[in-house]
Amino acid sequence: MDKVIVFDTTLRDGEQGAGGSLNIGEKLEIAHQLEKLGVDVIEAGFPASSPGDFEAVKLIAKEIRTPIICALTFAQPDSIDAAWKAVKGAEHPRIHIFLSSSDIQMFYQLKKSREEILESAREMVAHAKSYLDDVEFSPMDASRTDPEYLYKITTAVIDAGATTVNFPDTVGYATPSGYGELVEGIISNVPNIDRALISIHCHNDLGMAVANSLAALKKGARQVECTVNGIGERAGNASMEEIVMALKTRNDFYQMDTNIVTAEIYKTSRMVSDLTGFTVQPNKAIVGLNAFRHESGIHQDGVLKKAITYEIMDPRSVGIPSSSLVLGKLSGRHAFKERLAELGYSLNDEDLNRAFASFKKLADKKKEVVDRDIDSLIAEEMRTTSEIYHLEHVQISCGSPGIPTATVKLTTPYGQTVTDASPGTGPVDAMYKAINRIVKVPNNLTEFTVKSVTEGIDAIGAVLIRIESSGMTYTGRGADTDILVSCAKAYMNALNRLLMAKKTTKRARGE
Ligand code: KIV
Ligand code: ZN
Repeated sequence: MDKVIVFDTTLRDGEQGAGGSLNIGEKLEIAHQLEKLGVDVIEAGFPASSPGDFEAVKLIAKEIRTPIICALTFAQPDSIDAAWKAVKGAEHPRIHIFLSSSDIQMFYQLKKSREEILESAREMVAHAKSYLDDVEFSPMDASRTDPEYLYKITTAVIDAGATTVNFPDTVGYATPSGYGELVEGIISNVPNIDRALISIHCHNDLGMAVANSLAALKKGARQVECTVNGIGERAGNASMEEIVMALKTRNDFYQMDTNIVTAEIYKTSRMVSDLTGFTVQPNKAIVGLNAFRHESGIHQDGVLKKAITYEIMDPRSVGIPSSSLVLGKLSGRHAFKERLAELGYSLNDEDLNRAFASFKKLADKKKEVVDRDIDSLIAEEMRTTSEIYHLEHVQISCGSPGIPTATVKLTTPYGQTVTDASPGTGPVDAMYKAINRIVKVPNNLTEFTVKSVTEGIDAIGAVLIRIESSGMTYTGRGADTDILVSCAKAYMNALNRLLMAKKTTKRARGE
């Protein structure tokens, strides 16, 4: 059985997608989960791109010991030096250099000739090689590159020491058969290809990223670059869970295996969605809400008789809990703890006590507490553990006629409690203005979404917002049975993330 190396770029290409912004703590939390999931390589970030990315890569390199930790870099000495500084503490470090190789990008964007690019690729791989052995090279826009030139540049970088050569379909232009042929061409025309691993990296602009990746694996690529939930630049990257489950479910056809612990897939997907704010569409393969739900009577009848009639995968194989046990206000700490364990959460005693207290409050308001409520409750707990400002209390008066007015009470970073109030054009506006009077960070609200976590009038309402400040976007989430409280929590979450990012930037600059 051939092994496919799973290279996860959720923290780099995934986070690069519009509106994605994770703080260092969140990146580390995802990296820990990716390690549990069994990915072989974590692309932790792009150190030269920002002080925050540099710090995040450095921390992940220090903390996560099993997978290879990879840092992306421009093909420039300073950028490679920054990548090395960030990643050198890793048990298994890798540097990943990219440089455009298509005529379109070389001529119009870089304004360089083929010869200049070839020389720079060779030199920069050699430069990285002076630091470490594990060097990956990506000729960017490989799928739109003249094949003969692609063979030439690939041969040159392998000679210079690249141990992995990655062929990105940067703009999602490839088709499955064309991309498979690209890999075949590399195998037949690059004389030293036996000294490097062939990797692929697909974007989803035409919705073919997973199909293209699988076609290339079938033709001999053995590393696949992908992201959890398929998040990433523009229409995203190839979805990790779809590739892994396709290889597993259709093993008869692909005859390839990965090291992924598939039972961790669902939990990882929820975590990435929650922390990035990129919600998973209900009909998304493998991890969407409806992926294993059967609506049609004929299908339900079949599944009840024998699951295999309409289910090609066992939902438990991707970590979707088998029982639909419902908790309520009479459920005790033990039942709550058991359910958490079944959902994949392992909390320390202090966190468990806090989560149990929140569960009891929720169960008082809501008759039945289901798994999605518990997920939302735990996410809310996680959000409040690393706050700079904390929302203690919010009270709103609104109606028609009348002037919507909000009063908020916050705990400041110095432990004081401050209360303020403001009128507004509506209740949310009033609340956000009252919070702004205390926190005082200029920002613009760019996105605001409300949805219910479960069905029913007593459901938890989940709010997702994005705010913009100094050209950066920050996501905030909040959940509560009172939708206005969810709005306040989401805004506090976004503001705290903004403040934490500013703190990290200042620390990195030595201010
Ligand atoms: O899509 C792409 O070309 C990339 C490279 C930086 C590898 O993400
Ligand atoms: Zn990419």
